[in-house]
Amino acid sequence: MSSLEVVWSDLVRHRQELSDFNLRSAFAEEADRFERFSAEMDGCLTLDYSRNRIQDKTLMLLENLMLQSGVAERYAEMKSGVAINNTEGRSVLHIALRGSVDDDLVVDGQAIAADVNAVKERLYAFAKGVRDGSIAAKDGKPFTDVVNIGIGGSDLGPHMVTAGLAAYHDGPRVHFVSNVDGAHMGDTLKVLDPARTLFLVASKTFTTQETMTNARAAKEWLVAALGDDAVGDHFAALSTNKEGVEGFGISTERMFEFWDWVGGRYSVWSAIGLPVMIAIGPEGFEEFLAGARSMDEHFETAPFRENLPMLLAALGLWYRNIWACPSVAVLPYDQRLEFFSAFLQQLDMESNGKRVRRDGSDILRASGPVIWGQSGTNGQHAFYQELHQGHDIIPCEFLVAAKPTDADQHQHELLLSNCFAQVEALAFGRTADEAKAQLEASGKSAEEVAALVPHKVFPGNRPTSLLFYDKLTPKMLGRLIALYEHKVFVQGVVWGVNSYDQWGVELGKELANKLAPAVKSAERGEGDPAILDRLKAYRAK
Ligand code: F6P
Repeated sequence: MSSLEVVWSDLVRHRQELSDFNLRSAFAEEADRFERFSAEMDGCLTLDYSRNRIQDKTLMLLENLMLQSGVAERYAEMKSGVAINNTEGRSVLHIALRGSVDDDLVVDGQAIAADVNAVKERLYAFAKGVRDGSIAAKDGKPFTDVVNIGIGGSDLGPHMVTAGLAAYHDGPRVHFVSNVDGAHMGDTLKVLDPARTLFLVASKTFTTQETMTNARAAKEWLVAALGDDAVGDHFAALSTNKEGVEGFGISTERMFEFWDWVGGRYSVWSAIGLPVMIAIGPEGFEEFLAGARSMDEHFETAPFRENLPMLLAALGLWYRNIWACPSVAVLPYDQRLEFFSAFLQQLDMESNGKRVRRDGSDILRASGPVIWGQSGTNGQHAFYQELHQGHDIIPCEFLVAAKPTDADQHQHELLLSNCFAQVEALAFGRTADEAKAQLEASGKSAEEVAALVPHKVFPGNRPTSLLFYDKLTPKMLGRLIALYEHKVFVQGVVWGVNSYDQWGVELGKELANKLAPAVKSAERGEGDPAILDRLKAYRAK
């Protein structure tokens, strides 16, 4: 057995040792659990992971898992420009976008830092111009609205960050259109004035069906109102595909490039972040990058027991592979992080939702879990019932700020107490005796008490981690995203997958293109699905 397999077996055995582990008794017996199982970075971000089914030995074994999997070695390869995205022959250097690689790193003849800075200067100049009106609409007046047209990594990151940093917006309004469903573009345009609207077409490849369809629809809408010659002033492109951009009619002066070593779901730090730069300004965006850079440094230097991405990754592996938990709920108690779990779905599931290893062999164990969630307190009134009393164990990651950015202090205190209450309730639950005592105190009859007790028992012992930070600033959001990027990286290395390709999205795209003519005509050809007959019938009604 390889030394890595030995650690996996140690972990399986260790789970047996913890079969009677209960968070209630653990906290009763171990007054120092918070000190032992929490880590802080930069004096403003704490990971409290004390309410997990772990002991010191668990962490020792998980640290060994990281060592045996070669996490540090793979990270060194990534930083030095090795093509760790082996199926596409690409380096993975999104960390260079926040200045976290050597200044003189050259990939495929490109001096990374110089290229990154040159494009960033152009982006900042453009963002400033749009914000102060010196980059204006066809009529010479400022833009009031910016529409980002993109999907997946060209939408989720900038959309989530723009919403997350709403307290810092002082530029034009920013909208996001992604879905090929014409209702998305239609509903967005309904409230906009073409004379005041700037479109950013965000697509790494500049070939994605949804984005190109929406971009053409936006162009038609603009041209119908302002004429052909408005396109030059009212469009810009964020892409790696110069020919595609020019072919669409956007000049290269209005094109902001990035590189094939930036994966879509890791691209918010690049030109894809332009909507954020326009919304909060280049200074705010620099803070956002600085936050990510400080997380990179933390990840590289902090010892395992203080290393937030390592710990989050380790706990994820513990529950996914040793406890067979199929999903993880991400629960930000912050209305402005309402798109955070959707963003993480792509980051995590497109990266590690794989069944083969880098060399094409079977992983032989479960890889990326289902990531899902919603902002609190809304989720409490929807799916928390199942978190507390459902059959499955769903590890939860809560996020909350100590202080509101600009919201009401009293309401923020209520938000905090709800978050802390959920974490406590999931960990400690309520026993039958406690439920009984409560029902008796409320004056219920003995029969009523007996009937209700089973329904009022909360088993507890449900694992949670809490990311607690001072305030949701651009810097903090940069830290949080980079934290999850590194978590995904670590887990990908342990599972041995290529976290930077996404072949699993291709088949559906190919079939959709193939089916488009049949759907248009509603005529079923050989190999087309029978449901097309029903389509024809419904259309004829
Ligand atoms: O969904 C697959 C995918 O390739 C993602 O990885 C990517 O973020 C998205 O499509 C959009 O791609 P593009 O930026 O090239 O339009």
